Amino acid sequence: MARHLITSAIPYINGIKHLGNLVGSQLPADLFARYQRGRGNEVLFLCATDEHGTPAELAATKAGKPVAEYCAEMHEVQAKIAEGFRLSFDHFGRSSSPENHALTQHFAGVLAERGLIREVVENQMYSKADGRFLPDRYIEGTCPNCGFDSARGDQCDNCTKQLDPVDLINPHSTISGSTDLEMRETKHLYLCQSQMKDELEAWIDSKTDWPILTTSIAKKWLNDGDGLQDRGITRDLDWGIPVKKGTEDWPGMEGKVFYVWFDAPIEYIACAQEWVDSGKGTDWQRWWRTDQGAADVTYTQFMGKDNVPFHTLSFPSTILGSGEPWKLVDYVKSFNYLNYDGGQFSTSRGRGVFMDQALEILPADYWRWWLLSHAPESSDSEFTWENFQQSVNKDLADVLGNFVSRVTKFCRSKFGEEVPAGGEYGDTEQALIEELTTRTRAYEAHMEAMEVRKSAQELRAIWVAGNEYLQNAAPWSTFKEDPEKAAAQIRLALNLIRFYAVLSAPFIPDAKDTLLAAMQTENDAWPDDVLAALAALGPGHAFTVPDVTFRKITDAEREDWQERFAGTRD
Ligand code: MF3
Ligand code: ZN
Repeated sequence: MARHLITSAIPYINGIKHLGNLVGSQLPADLFARYQRGRGNEVLFLCATDEHGTPAELAATKAGKPVAEYCAEMHEVQAKIAEGFRLSFDHFGRSSSPENHALTQHFAGVLAERGLIREVVENQMYSKADGRFLPDRYIEGTCPNCGFDSARGDQCDNCTKQLDPVDLINPHSTISGSTDLEMRETKHLYLCQSQMKDELEAWIDSKTDWPILTTSIAKKWLNDGDGLQDRGITRDLDWGIPVKKGTEDWPGMEGKVFYVWFDAPIEYIACAQEWVDSGKGTDWQRWWRTDQGAADVTYTQFMGKDNVPFHTLSFPSTILGSGEPWKLVDYVKSFNYLNYDGGQFSTSRGRGVFMDQALEILPADYWRWWLLSHAPESSDSEFTWENFQQSVNKDLADVLGNFVSRVTKFCRSKFGEEVPAGGEYGDTEQALIEELTTRTRAYEAHMEAMEVRKSAQELRAIWVAGNEYLQNAAPWSTFKEDPEKAAAQIRLALNLIRFYAVLSAPFIPDAKDTLLAAMQTENDAWPDDVLAALAALGPGHAFTVPDVTFRKITDAEREDWQERFAGTRD
């Protein structure tokens, strides 16, 4: 049994995420986790909320709440929505947890001992109007790299360059809008990533199977301009993890906190500790410490492309730099962006469909299917309501749903609600089983490779193959001349429903439950042997006709939703 540690980029706490966020990390991570569990492997699937830094402080201020209270509430909101989408995290943690406080301070202490942290007295933007320093998102201006006019102090959303607030052209405070800014002295800690450049580069070069999107971004930041830069890992903020050297105070750093991007990835580890501390798990070390069993774990991370530099350079610097036996990531699966109807999804502008709104309209499976089958892998992709309607109506309602309903209803009317006995498989059945075997092996290969769209295509082809078989075999006609043969055809088709439920579960987990319930079986074993899998429900096995598995989206609904989501969310 293989062991898979799987993490999704941890979403910022500041509000409900849109479908673009979902498809860029949590959803494909869930697909992979469900697939690996389906194959009988041991999985630890972790995610959390990213609660520190300016995004959290700004959102709490806007909501008029103390930041700790705001984060606790939003964590619950995000956890509920994640459940709604059937994201099967083993634990959904919080980067503000005591575990993460301790571990982040631990890493800082060890890195300092090993000479990988330097103290820098620097000049930073101070806003007189606001009476404070303006780190990261408290400041906006024009990107020095691409000219984008609302680049934030820490990163440009347009070109993904990591920035320092002082780099911005024409900066202003996002609190008051004030441009009355001056430089003031403040002391900060820097992680000496530049010292680790060669080690990081050799490591990335050894990852020849990584997606090009991942390695190209990593290489770009390794070699751009003067090469990999040291990164400031502290901030003048109130909310965050206090700067300490392990459990000791850090002289001169009183009142400062770690930078959100320093502590957030450490939460991947702390989250496993939370999983244990919450009583759900045991032995987190087995997943994270290579000296305690994690050496044979395969660790896969999922994220949007803007997160790649932090996961391929910054976090590995923390891990490698510590010199301790922590598990390094084995595979970094990154995604391009999903656009919304001719523009971008935007949290700040409330543009697009947000996770809570999506679930108000349709159940999770509809969204999961569309999003995953259109995942922005090789390039950005676009959500349009027409395309959504078309995919749902064709793939889910016409192909899969219709198959289930025709087969079960026909059987009920001619043979009753049990798998019929009699008859034998002929050439058509053999051909179908061969095709399904080939396609199932291809599907597995795509899933192993985390080729999300290709997996979806193969799954769809597997559904189509069953439909075509049914169309050709036409048991409703066969029944008139040769009821035995019709019985064999329907027996195969009923077994296909179970087979589809199992194979499709990573994409559409609710349908799996509904279909297995209708087939009155708990047998969800993966079809390693397709022929055997298609005999799982023997003659006499009782079933029920399920309610409509997938309904169609009407033109009226589509138009209504199109209009409802055309503006921005209030
Ligand atoms: N919150 C970040 C984002 O949404 C992702 C953080 S991932 C982690 O872009 F590595 F820091 F955990
Ligand atoms: Zn830019």
